[in-house]
Amino acid sequence: MFPFERPRRLRRTPALRRLVAETTLAPRHLIAPLFVAEGRDEPHPISSLPGHFQHTLASLTTEVGRLLDLGVGGVILFGLPTHKDAVGSQAWAPDGIIQRALLTLRETFGHDVVLMADTCLDEFTDHGHCGIVRDDGTVDNDATLALYVQMAVAQARAGADVVAPSGMMDGQVGAIRDGLDAEGFEETIIMAYAAKYASALYGPFREAVDVQIADGGDRRGYQQDYSNRREAVREARLDVDEGADIIMVKPAVTYLDIVRDLRDAFDVPLAAYHVSGEYAMIKAAAAQGWIDGPAVALEQLIAIRRAGADMILTYFAGEIAELL
Ligand code: PBG
Repeated sequence: MFPFERPRRLRRTPALRRLVAETTLAPRHLIAPLFVAEGRDEPHPISSLPGHFQHTLASLTTEVGRLLDLGVGGVILFGLPTHKDAVGSQAWAPDGIIQRALLTLRETFGHDVVLMADTCLDEFTDHGHCGIVRDDGTVDNDATLALYVQMAVAQARAGADVVAPSGMMDGQVGAIRDGLDAEGFEETIIMAYAAKYASALYGPFREAVDVQIADGGDRRGYQQDYSNRREAVREARLDVDEGADIIMVKPAVTYLDIVRDLRDAFDVPLAAYHVSGEYAMIKAAAAQGWIDGPAVALEQLIAIRRAGADMILTYFAGEIAELL
């Protein structure tokens, strides 16, 4: 008989499959995005992200305690201020909602928790852009950098372990590194949204944070064009050279080629953001009974790890950590 190979031998039993599994997924690989709102008495469900809430400080603390018990790797905070203005001044106010949440969580959990904060202005500006908008509607890169620095320093001062610039301004990582160091925050980590694409998959997130971009605008002037692959390596190289400690690809499942490229090109820890639209699609199809939601979520998260991500920001963090 023709001597063909028999890879199926290694798949015969669950124990054998476990023995030869190449990729692992553990709760510590997962980072939970969480929303905290100023001026609410009760947590408010986010309809576009079933199972998620705009938290109060109290409900946020309870949720972080639950996630820590499950062993998740960290949490990343997004804030909803009651006051928005053209520059997003609540982003760096010492009593701004993100800063208050960081202080509360640090006080409650000490260093058992890895606290991350999204460093971007869109939740705090009245026009919904990630920076200073000029009269012609474009975003002024260099004027925006100074605001990111103020925001990152305020987050570090409030106890963030990690600041995560997500605005895709050129030079943002270097500016933030210099600004943090100048204020004595040499140990604060920068996780750079290095390759962040202008994606239609952020839709549910914009409802979660109550952000509409003014005049039907979009972010294609600063986020990457999803036609481009080499450009992601360039963006990541700039961030690593400017001092990024962790780099990120966003979104995740539609960008696994980029995850692999960055894994191969750099030796810093690599994160991928399984974004709101990726979560919402699974939840919506599962609610129809068309797919097995947790099974699809697990398959996607393992695929992101297989492509090379060390850690995954995902709205499934709590749900999947419970299963693992
Ligand atoms: C910017 C930011 C966004 C997300 C994370 N940080 C929105 C955007 O770029 O428009 C999206 C995350 C998601 O969709 O889950 N502050």
